[in-house]
Amino acid sequence: MNIPKNYSQIDQWKSIMFLYDSALKEINTKITILNNEFIHMYGHTPIEHIKSRLKTPDSIVKKLKRDGQEVTIENMVEKLSDIAGIRIICSFTQDIYQIADMIARQRDVTVLYVKDYIKQPKPNGYKSYHMVVTIPIYLTEGPVDTKVEIQIRTVAMDFWASLEHKIYYKFEGNAPDSLQAELKACADMVDMLDAKMFSLNQLILAVGQDQNRKE
Ligand code: GTP
Ligand code: MG
Repeated sequence: MNIPKNYSQIDQWKSIMFLYDSALKEINTKITILNNEFIHMYGHTPIEHIKSRLKTPDSIVKKLKRDGQEVTIENMVEKLSDIAGIRIICSFTQDIYQIADMIARQRDVTVLYVKDYIKQPKPNGYKSYHMVVTIPIYLTEGPVDTKVEIQIRTVAMDFWASLEHKIYYKFEGNAPDSLQAELKACADMVDMLDAKMFSLNQLILAVGQDQNRKE
């Protein structure tokens, strides 16, 4: 980042990062509560784990430059939607939509937009459900709506995405065609695995219900 030369810019930076950090905490708490309620209602946890991160100053600058934006605090707040990012990893695709709905329905959460790369995967095979929301952070002077990017995907989709990410960086976006084709083939296997695991789980649930009835 263009190191801010005067204190007021540093102060601005600090208070903005404080907002994003608080927004992460708020959303994290909401998700944890939803997960606990889910266990209570349905007897299983839909969420395998949650990762959250604040974008580093380095990546903020890199992204603004990539997008041809001047590196200013104003641009970073206006143009970037993933300074605060949360990734929710679920067991099954169906859980993803339930969780997304549960988050979107919360009164203080505003959904800015959704990108459903599960219904419409990217050409490389990337699948994930993205939601950019705002949440009010209550400061002494009043509430400030703060953006958080939420990515929801299954364990299998996450496995694929992290490998693809590694390859993308290794080859600086120019991976050989053969490797891209292999990755795409893996993405199809991820689909198959997710579908199979879901139907197996349905089977297990049905057996459980059957046993309950007999008892
Ligand atoms: P950026 O790509 O971040 O500029 O955002 P965008 O406006 O294009 O939004 P999009 O929803 O497409 O991507 C947001 C984030 O999703 C990215 O920063 C990545 O973390 C993740 N993502 C999107 N596409 C891919 C992909 O093809 N592979 C992997 N591994 N991750 C992806
Ligand atoms: Mg993108």
